[in-house]
Amino acid sequence: MNVVTTIIRSRHSVRKFKTDSIDDKVIQDALECALCAPTAMNHQPYLFVIVKQKDTLSKIAGFADHGRFIEDSQACVAVFGEKQETYYLEDCCAATENLILALQAYGVCSCWVAGDKKSYAEPVRELLKVPLKYTLVSLVAAGYPAEVPVVKKKLMKTLVYFEKYEEKLL
Ligand SMILES: Cc1cc2nc3c(=O)[nH]c(=O)nc-3n(C[C@H](O)[C@H](O)[C@H](O)COP(=O)(O)O)c2cc1C
Repeated sequence: MNVVTTIIRSRHSVRKFKTDSIDDKVIQDALECALCAPTAMNHQPYLFVIVKQKDTLSKIAGFADHGRFIEDSQACVAVFGEKQETYYLEDCCAATENLILALQAYGVCSCWVAGDKKSYAEPVRELLKVPLKYTLVSLVAAGYPAEVPVVKKKLMKTLVYFEKYEEKLL
């Protein structure tokens, strides 16, 4: 284990947040880390909107059927992808995960809330005045944790094979 793998292992989706605000420098550094993620042909076909205002957080929470807790987050980063780019979904997802892990490294917990394929993708885009050529891929609700639920993961030996499907890794 090292510092990076420890941070990855310590991440859990958090949906209950304290009222302590997140320093803008933390969010900025985490977003710079999002931009460090790999993207197909390095196109970086995304944009990010950081939402901190309570009324806007409430409106997004009202749209997101499984993201009502966004209202009580300290910041929500909306990740948008350029629809015409072939790999915008993969690129935005890689950036989203980098963002989440970088926040985690500062002790800021978060939850990825679906955006792509959701009926509220358009209302959120319109609310945040993002140009039509972009579509919502993910929402990252963030804050210091009030509760950290730890969910069970599938066992590695049921998912990972060595060289070929028949060969068990462990
Ligand atoms: C693409 C994607 C969409 C998700 N959408 C939601 C969501 O809308 N609401 C929510 O509460 N959690 C959402 N999650 C978080 C998952 O529920 C969570 O990652 C999963 O239960 C595993 O828990 P863990 O993140 O603590 O390991 C989403 C995660 C991903 C990757």
